[in-house]
Amino acid sequence: MRRRTLRRLVPALLILPALAQAWPEHAAAPLAEQCDSIDSVPMRQHVNYSEDIQPIWSTRCANCHVDWGKFPSADLDLNPPTSWFFLYNEPSSQDNALIRVVPNQPGRSLLFTKLNCEAVDVGVRMPRGRQPIPLSEQALVHDWILAGAPEVQDDTIFRARFEIRG
Ligand code: HEC
Repeated sequence: MRRRTLRRLVPALLILPALAQAWPEHAAAPLAEQCDSIDSVPMRQHVNYSEDIQPIWSTRCANCHVDWGKFPSADLDLNPPTSWFFLYNEPSSQDNALIRVVPNQPGRSLLFTKLNCEAVDVGVRMPRGRQPIPLSEQALVHDWILAGAPEVQDDTIFRARFEIRG
């Protein structure tokens, strides 16, 4: 390689890392500081969808996604017994690049980030216009998704087992 070419090439290569840093990454997950920390809540190994998760929807998401008038908000029906089917691996009705519940990945699940974070990929924090749900319930949703978001959890023997998170 000629010396002059080298002299041009080297500075160009040197600025590459700086460019890569300046390039914004796709905002797949909200910034952690805009999300509540659930570290203080002991981890639940076994979460039962109908006993642990559905009651959260039934108490906190009423009139919009539960017992709605004409249509559920964002085409998300959280009424029992079909709510699970509206969540598991289902794309968002507002942006189909976003998935409501990605099994095993709470941080990539729109459902969890909308309950846990102020800044979200689409729309506003849920429940819309109300207080965020308690950390204990955010953690339950998190742990359920982490466990693969099962529709039924028949392994009830260990349900009372708690473990320290992290
Ligand atoms: C007062 C009405 C209201 C309440 C209460 C409410 N939501 Fe919503 N929800 C909306 C509206 C309107 C949208 C669409 C706009 C948005 O995403 O902010 C929405 C969107 C969503 C979405 C995104 C759906 C998609 O396909 O993009 C999720 C997930 C969600 N809500 C979950 C919940 C959960 C879980 C609760 C209860 C803890 C809840 N919401 C409570 C009105 C509500």
